[in-house]
Amino acid sequence: MAVLSNRLSRWTLPMFTCALVNFLAAQGLILAGLTWPAESISTSGTLAAVHLLVIGWLLLLVLGALFQFVPVITSRPLVSQSMALVTLIALETGMVGMVGGFFSIGAGYPTLAMALPLGGLAVCLGVLIACWNIGVPLIRSRPLPLPGRMILTGLAFLILTVTLGFSFALTLAVPVLAPYLAPLLAGVGDHALAGLGGWFTLTAMGVSYKLLPMFMLAPEERGIAGDSVHILGTVGFALAVGAGLARVWSAAGPLRTAELVGYAAVAIAVVLYLWDVAKIYRTRKRTVVEAHNRAAIAAFAFLGLGSALAIGFLMTGHLSVGAPAIVFLIVFGWLGGLGLTQLYKIVPFLTWLSRYGSSLGRGHVPRVQDLVLERRSYPWFALYFLGVLVGALFGLLGSPRGFRACIALVTLATVGLVIEYWRAWRGHYAHLRHGESATPPFLPTQRG
Ligand code: HEM
Repeated sequence: MAVLSNRLSRWTLPMFTCALVNFLAAQGLILAGLTWPAESISTSGTLAAVHLLVIGWLLLLVLGALFQFVPVITSRPLVSQSMALVTLIALETGMVGMVGGFFSIGAGYPTLAMALPLGGLAVCLGVLIACWNIGVPLIRSRPLPLPGRMILTGLAFLILTVTLGFSFALTLAVPVLAPYLAPLLAGVGDHALAGLGGWFTLTAMGVSYKLLPMFMLAPEERGIAGDSVHILGTVGFALAVGAGLARVWSAAGPLRTAELVGYAAVAIAVVLYLWDVAKIYRTRKRTVVEAHNRAAIAAFAFLGLGSALAIGFLMTGHLSVGAPAIVFLIVFGWLGGLGLTQLYKIVPFLTWLSRYGSSLGRGHVPRVQDLVLERRSYPWFALYFLGVLVGALFGLLGSPRGFRACIALVTLATVGLVIEYWRAWRGHYAHLRHGESATPPFLPTQRG
């Protein structure tokens, strides 16, 4: 548990709260029929929902987790806790600006459309501050373990992603720049790949390499398999994104070959990673796997499914047809699914740390696992992942109604899980378990 317990990151829980609100807001846009598959992928509603998901939900979630996680794997503090607050404010306000900007462009209001690059600029600043805050302890740490190296690589892809996004925003909202920057828009797929693959996926893999063995008591040292996942993933995403961007300006054949080699390297990295994750589950010393890691198996399956579909569509030359459903599977199934499942452990843990950590030795203190009632979570996880799976199928079949019905299930499941996180935070189950005598320590009085 040392990985989480060094010191409480003050802004992590507020970041998680904002992230969940943004996730539900994005689901609201889908339910309102403003996005793919009811609308085309390049409409303002889809672009707004995509960025609510990737910045509002996933970026806040991952950075919030890293603000807690990085000081512990490096044994060094963040550069500053206040910088974490500045990141939260910059990302949240920037993301709201971007969403407003996308809708303004769609509605044909050129002045309001400036909210897109201005919001994008705020997001870029928030990201740079976060990279400094997390990057300094990582770079100063020697030797840096595999999860730390994977996070550092991810941060480089994150900077590339937001820089590309910002130049797209300038192209769309500032007409005088459009003639110079417009060709870059052809690289929108590379922007998505750098963000969802190079940043989120490599970082999620790195963090899971620490959290999975820790909670299941399995060997942490991943040896050559872990290093290969990191190197193949990094080289693969770099080649695919780099060659893809270069193809915006040049039709040279070797660039296409380099791009395909990159995709192949990423595919091998994903297979190796999933094999290694299965090995962590197999070699665990803890007989009972906790609910968050049981449910996470579905998220890993979605990583495999999304990657397999991407390879299938690529080989048949129809990647652009399958891309929206693949992005949906990766965002909701793999990254979102892993996020929701891990929150089911991280929220109780941070709650315990902030409320009860300092009460140890002074009367009854609940255990972390007393803060949740696992059987309550299973129906929500099952509903969530089922909704995502069937939703992707309806998306591929081009059925907006079926897709939205599935998102309604996904929303219901998300709300159900949010209630469970809230109950953990309030000490609801700990209170029920220990009855009247336990009332004082379970009330939220001692904030960290
Ligand atoms: C982690 C960060 C990000 C990720 C993962 C990401 C992901 C994506 C994805 C998947 C698309 C394609 C959406 C579609 O076609 O419907 C997209 C498009 C776009 N993104 Fe981002 N994005 C990120 C950050 C940003 C930022 C900071 C900006 C800055 C304003 C931005 C601006 C844009 C724009 C303008 C487009 C549309 C380009 C076009 O018209 O083709 N993105 N992004």
